[in-house]
Amino acid sequence: MKTSRIHSVRSTAGAPVGPRERAREARIAKCIPRLATALVLLLLIAVPAQAEDPSPVVHTSATAGDLEAGARIFAATGGCTCHTNYPGEGEGAPPLAGGRGLETPFGVYYSTNITPDRETGLGEWSQADFVRAMREGLSPEGDHYFPVFPYTAFSGLRDRDLIDLKAYLDSLPAVRRQNRPPDAPFPFSWRATIFGWKIMNFTPKQIDEQPSQSAEWNRGRYLVEAAAHCGECHTPRTLTGGLDGSKRLAGSREGPEGELAPNITPHEKTGIGSWSRPDLVWYLQTGLKPEGDDTQGLMSEVIEHGYSNLPKEDLAAIAIYLRSVEPIENHITID
Ligand code: HEC
Repeated sequence: MKTSRIHSVRSTAGAPVGPRERAREARIAKCIPRLATALVLLLLIAVPAQAEDPSPVVHTSATAGDLEAGARIFAATGGCTCHTNYPGEGEGAPPLAGGRGLETPFGVYYSTNITPDRETGLGEWSQADFVRAMREGLSPEGDHYFPVFPYTAFSGLRDRDLIDLKAYLDSLPAVRRQNRPPDAPFPFSWRATIFGWKIMNFTPKQIDEQPSQSAEWNRGRYLVEAAAHCGECHTPRTLTGGLDGSKRLAGSREGPEGELAPNITPHEKTGIGSWSRPDLVWYLQTGLKPEGDDTQGLMSEVIEHGYSNLPKEDLAAIAIYLRSVEPIENHITID
């Protein structure tokens, strides 16, 4: 058994009690009126525009996916761990069957069933359906996905990797479980709103090779920016829930499930400037920080079910890239 020191399961039974939770609730309460105003404005854009949504057609040749390569991409995503309801059901939660409540300032969104079950999962999806969902945040029926599903990052994944990932997911056990609608007030519960959100906050990523950089750096960039979606948790968000491009990876007080996600730029004082490359690799393998502390919450899960299964060269590539990003001063503490 590896990574036994990682505590990934947090109980959600009972009311939240800690100062972190209280501070978070107060922040969320403060945010809602501002966010509501912003989203009502968005609706004004979304309603007329919805009718004209020209969904580009995805052309994917039906080649068979490679399971081993798919397992590697699966590890790079953090094992799609948000799709397993560990907090609600403990270690016995059916893997990837969804139903996990992800708390956001807009409401609680439940992850979906991504097992190959034909009725409630992805069993009937074609490769093109899968590629479109990951790249454009659109369901096979053309509905917009809520951006709690990080297609903003996954849009940078290459066709080949997406096809391999789909093949890998299809090889796992099917679980029958219906998806749950969000517990979010209108208009945050309305998928059409997301069309407006996408206009403001979503440009599909294109991660081209940078010839001036090493192959390792390019690999690290691809993993961090697309598959491993580090910024979805570690980059703070704007009022409308988009990623704040001026503070890339500089930490967020409103991370996933309301957690605090630290500054992971190489800033000496407020980031992880003092971590060496081997420190980072060790952390992504074990969840242990240089000073010996372990990791809590979702980060421990993405490590345990994902990053720790990556080959050493991928972890080294992530560390090389992460040490090269712009150091940004942003002190993240619980207020
Ligand atoms: C699902 C959300 C999520 C994703 C994805 C994620 N992180 Fe984290 N990360 C967190 C949270 C939350 C913490 C705080 C953990 C704690 O409190 O122990 C954290 C902690 C860390 C830390 C410890 C920093 C410190 O100062 O203690 C590092 C380093 C880190 N993450 C790097 C990464 C890298 C690199 C990636 C992508 C390969 C990544 N994270 C992806 C949520 C995430």
